[in-house]
Amino acid sequence: MELRSVICGVGSHLPERVLTNAELSRKVDTSDEWIVARTGIRQRHIAADGELTSDLAIQAAVKALASAKCAAADIDLIVLATATPDLTFPASAARVQAALGVTKGAAFDVQAVCSGFIFALATADNFLARGQATRALVIGAETFSRLLDWGDRSTCVLFGDGAGAIVLEGQTQAEAGARGVLSTFIRTDGKLHDLLYVDGGPSQTQSVGKLRMVGNAVFRHAVEHISGAMLEACARAGIDISEVDWFVPHQANQRILDGVARKLGIDPEKVISTVALHGNTSAASVPLALDVAIRDGRAKQGDLVLMEALGGGLTWGAALVRL
Ligand code: ACO
Repeated sequence: MELRSVICGVGSHLPERVLTNAELSRKVDTSDEWIVARTGIRQRHIAADGELTSDLAIQAAVKALASAKCAAADIDLIVLATATPDLTFPASAARVQAALGVTKGAAFDVQAVCSGFIFALATADNFLARGQATRALVIGAETFSRLLDWGDRSTCVLFGDGAGAIVLEGQTQAEAGARGVLSTFIRTDGKLHDLLYVDGGPSQTQSVGKLRMVGNAVFRHAVEHISGAMLEACARAGIDISEVDWFVPHQANQRILDGVARKLGIDPEKVISTVALHGNTSAASVPLALDVAIRDGRAKQGDLVLMEALGGGLTWGAALVRL
């Protein structure tokens, strides 16, 4: 019997330390005006020394469990999207599992950089739909500040740290009603590998490396592929994009959000934007933005939400969910 994955809880966590554009412009040759005009970013949160990706993930997961009124003992799958794991191995999800006191099922990381949360959601949805797990924590958590070249003004101004999590439960059609994940769509084009990458890793350099990006090329691909993914996710569910209540995009750049909305004729009021306050938190940005929209009362149970992202790989995707 095919089951439907329903979002039962959402939570997020940001490190305490806020780094403003003004402060950044004292460290590198940039300005608040340039960053706001080109990206919409005004500040980002930065993890403290010793504060790890898994620490942020655990905090977000605890809040998601509380919002779902779900005990750790009821979780039997953890899928953590991150490109900034604590260690090369084991998966950071293993540490999250132990810290939460989850004792059942599997916990593993998914690596699709900024698209990671959509990939993790699609992965968990498939496990739940086939009954191979019953309740999953799907988490996006990153400490991108650790990968930044703080001398490269074209990249270091863009990113921040944070985490977001959802509890996803497999329900029968009768239990779920209209709610649940209606469709997912994920894609990778490895030919575009060199547009956005980190120039280190255990196999190639035996070091962690720094983020490198051809920003304007990524920008062009982003608008095109994100729009395509959103339309594909809607088509797979037999939903017209005009029926969507809230768009929860990956928060890379306000200009990408605006470009996609213009291309698809979307009312900007329906687009959840947290980029000004969070910057680009990679895999964490979608669940962080979803949590903000739910907590401030915009997104409510029954609303149709379309999430999307694009990131290194290049990877991209979208997920259509009725809350
Ligand atoms: N402050 C001041 N000047 C800067 C800065 C900065 N922080 N960064 C770059 N510049 C300068 C450049 O040196 C260049 O100067 P020049 O004309 O004298 O050579 C000028 O600004 C224009 O640079 P571009 O790279 O052409 O600027 P662009 O308008 O493309 O904006 C940006 C750059 C913001 C990176 C943009 O390309 C972008 O957002 N791309 C999307 C990439 C992205 O968001 N990636 C995140 C991961 S993937 C994802 O999440 C979708």
